[in-house]
Amino acid sequence: MRTTVGWQLEESSSTLRRTPLERRDLRPDDLAVRVDHCGVCHSDLHAVSAGGGRGPLVPGHEFTGVVTSTGSAVTRFAVGDPVAVGNIVDACGQCAMCLAGQENFCRAFPTLTYGGTDRHDGTPTLGGFSREYVVRDQFAHPVPEGLDPAATAPLLCAGVTVWEPLHALGAGPGSRVAVAGLGGLGHLAVKMAVALGAETSVISRSADKADDARRLGAHGFVVSGDPEQMAGARDRFDIVIDTISVPHDLGPYLRLVAMDGTLSHLGHLGPVTVETLDLLMGRKKLSSAGSGGRPATAAMLDFCARHGIAADIEVLPSARVNEALDRLRRNDVRYRFVLDLSDLDSATG
Ligand SMILES: NC(=O)c1ccc[n+]([C@@H]2O[C@H](COP(=O)([O-])OP(=O)(O)OC[C@H]3O[C@@H](n4cnc5c(N)ncnc54)[C@H](OP(=O)(O)O)[C@@H]3O)[C@@H](O)[C@H]2O)c1
Ligand SMILES: [Zn+2]
Ligand SMILES: [Zn+2]
Repeated sequence: MRTTVGWQLEESSSTLRRTPLERRDLRPDDLAVRVDHCGVCHSDLHAVSAGGGRGPLVPGHEFTGVVTSTGSAVTRFAVGDPVAVGNIVDACGQCAMCLAGQENFCRAFPTLTYGGTDRHDGTPTLGGFSREYVVRDQFAHPVPEGLDPAATAPLLCAGVTVWEPLHALGAGPGSRVAVAGLGGLGHLAVKMAVALGAETSVISRSADKADDARRLGAHGFVVSGDPEQMAGARDRFDIVIDTISVPHDLGPYLRLVAMDGTLSHLGHLGPVTVETLDLLMGRKKLSSAGSGGRPATAAMLDFCARHGIAADIEVLPSARVNEALDRLRRNDVRYRFVLDLSDLDSATG
């Protein structure tokens, strides 16, 4: 075993504490990665709030760093290469989904970067809020040249989670896209939809983020708390990307979808209640998605590099992780916290 250090949830609390961690010795197809930057996703907050009941919890599933050693069979990467890892670190590789390059939908369920179970040795996976991660080379991606590695980290969860549905639903010239919830996922969805050529709007709870939305390239802005604005936007969007982080009524958002259009519900996951009339009136579709397969992740990174897209970030030393989670809980972030893990090298960081 290799030892490293990371931020693990303390028992019966919602505080992450600096803790020594074990990583497996490299298998032939593994890389050891020095984690330099890891984004703080709202899913990390959900996981911390839910507690670590199913074993040790070290959050973090969108990170970039540098390869520090490689297994004997690795050919795609060499020591010193900058790499990025998202929220899936393995899959069965044999099911129809995996064969179609949709490892994120693996029928045997993909191995999650944390809160999962390693397919070979049965150990719990521990996430990227740590100085080292050991990952199968197939689930690491080169960091594209020209993108800031810290701002690239959030592309690996937030970015690809909105990229796949935007792409699958045909966002592009002539399509009208609305993004509900301007947070980590939402701001990247806006940047991507605009770069894809779609007429893009933001749906937000208040007008506070209207200037930001414009700066991100959005053409329209709808205040979800304003009934007149919501009524005015009825049946307007071919695609609504819903990234809202709390359970909510889908009705008001379905009513904004155009005939034959789709509401892609990506945010708070769990049971929802749908009034079928909201689907019937306009033959509307309700969909969901999450994370990305390996080919889509590579395509997303390539697209972002070509269009200069990365997250708007606030970088904090990892010792301030609990503060980052608190501020994320209060919606006080524009638009993604990224932890700098280098402070874990010092004895007290
Ligand atoms: N499908 C997946 O695989 C996947 C992947 C990653 C994350 N997620 C989930 O996606 C959600 C968003 O993640 P994120 O990291 O983008 O979170 P985030 O940065 O906190 O953004 C969430 C946004 O939701 C809106 N919102 C927050 N509280 C709200 C409330 N009470 N009512 C209405 N809107 C509210 C806010 O937008 P406004 O201020 O503009 O209203 C906020 O900026 C989370 O639930 C996360 O777990 C899913
Ligand atoms: Zn995430
Ligand atoms: Zn599979």
